[in-house]
Amino acid sequence: MNFRYAEKVDAGLLADVSAETFWDAYNTESILDQDFIKAYIAKTFSEEVIAEELADEEIIYIIPEIESEVCGFLRLLPNSTRENVSGRKPFQISRIYLRKKFWGKKLGSELMERSIEEAIKHNSDVIWLSVWQHNKRAINFYKKFDFRKVGEHLFDLAGSMQTDDLMLKEL
Ligand SMILES: CC(C)(COP(=O)(O)OP(=O)(O)OC[C@H]1O[C@@H](n2cnc3c(N)ncnc32)[C@H](O)[C@@H]1OP(=O)(O)O)[C@@H](O)C(=O)NCCC(=O)NCCS
Repeated sequence: MNFRYAEKVDAGLLADVSAETFWDAYNTESILDQDFIKAYIAKTFSEEVIAEELADEEIIYIIPEIESEVCGFLRLLPNSTRENVSGRKPFQISRIYLRKKFWGKKLGSELMERSIEEAIKHNSDVIWLSVWQHNKRAINFYKKFDFRKVGEHLFDLAGSMQTDDLMLKEL
């Protein structure tokens, strides 16, 4: 797997991959009304929004590829904190997403290792993230990397209030 930093020209690609992977991660076991997921995707993952984010120095997008095929993406925030997050310089893994065909093949570990590398590069002492309580695959994955739950918060999914676990790992 190769990693590259996303560039301006990747806005459309990232908008598409974000929408596709968000849909697959949230459209599970009929927990959520699909209209909420669609509304959230439409407002959050437009090409315009992603283009603005790519111009923002506080947001790092990294694209993993296997033989030039895009496998997913990382969205990392090197200076981001939240209630219950301790540490001198917390680093947030804001999104860690593989496309569905790449799930369950241990490729997530490579994305996590790349995120940790980036956190160390930014002199961070703590990595944290927020994960939907129904996303058992992701929660188990984070536990394997020694993330522990430090709190909960409400996530507004286009009007449908969902509970996320806040998880943290010391570096
Ligand atoms: C979360 C994600 C990055 C994990 O990467 P992955 O390559 O699929 O994970 P792995 O194959 O390394 O599996 C890691 C662990 O997840 C857990 N896991 C995998 N599939 C699972 C399932 N169906 N149910 C519960 N736990 C599961 C297991 O603990 C597994 O470890 P094991 O195989 O040693 O038992 C990836 O699945 C993904 O992108 N999912 C969709 C997007 C998403 O949910 N992102 C997180 C948002 S907060």
